[in-house]
Amino acid sequence: WSKFGHVLVCEIAYRQLTDDARDKLYALIENQSFEDEHGDQLYPSFNHGCLREDQVRQRPSEHYINYPRDWSRVDNAQCPGGRDCLLSAIELDAERLGDTSLPNDERLAAALALGHWIGDIHQPMHVSFSDDRGGNSVNKRGRCGASNLHAVWDRCLVERRVIFVREPANADEYAEFTPMYRAADWMIEDADPDAIMGWVATEPWEWAAESFDQIRQAEVQYCIKKGDACWYSETLRSYDGDEDNQRTVVMDEAYLDRFGPVVISRLTQAGYRLAATMEAALSD
Ligand code: ADE
Ligand code: ZN
Ligand code: ZN
Repeated sequence: WSKFGHVLVCEIAYRQLTDDARDKLYALIENQSFEDEHGDQLYPSFNHGCLREDQVRQRPSEHYINYPRDWSRVDNAQCPGGRDCLLSAIELDAERLGDTSLPNDERLAAALALGHWIGDIHQPMHVSFSDDRGGNSVNKRGRCGASNLHAVWDRCLVERRVIFVREPANADEYAEFTPMYRAADWMIEDADPDAIMGWVATEPWEWAAESFDQIRQAEVQYCIKKGDACWYSETLRSYDGDEDNQRTVVMDEAYLDRFGPVVISRLTQAGYRLAATMEAALSD
């Protein structure tokens, strides 16, 4: 997700924590020795701290899970291809957060990373296909400022739905994240308590499976322009690498209207599941 999405997920989660878990998280924040050049704390708030993995970029393969194009389902907690991915990252950082024998900074870094990973695993394009790097290699024309299909999901869908549809805001306000706090208000208010119970009673590989199920819908894939015709994912499954089959999405309002609500529910689910995961890791 873009900054807005990650900060929003972690804000929703923070608000769901019990006093006990929030106190423990706050103690990690207060006791940090991460500092900027002025000697100020680098991660004074949990929500913005969840951007740390994008800032340090030390674990590049752990932001996503990519499968071969003919892969049909996520059915266990294994990372494909034997390298670290979102699933191993979530497991590792939940364990580190709960390990009170580790130094404060390591546990704080684990909490911030966990917030980042649980956000990412709910972004459908982060549990996608390796041949187009989760839509990163798919050019985009038409609506949305974003430059490729991946970025449509990371940024454009979130911004349009959260900021311009529900929360008309000017650019200054957007930069200050004010709409993010209001979005957290209405997303929590809109969340159905029974649905939340179902969301939190699941495991990370199931969150990945939900993302991948979204991705496998032909409509989520792209209209690849060949002359006047659109080619969808079925054609891409047999993509032969022919450069004439330029991979260019033509983004339209119908796509944005259809998948905007999906993005809202993925961000909400991520927030509640992050809270439950931290709660479990921080319980005695
Ligand atoms: N880099 C390669 N594949 C990616 C994906 N699915 N999401 C984000 N970054 C990636
Ligand atoms: Zn992304
Ligand atoms: Zn990421």
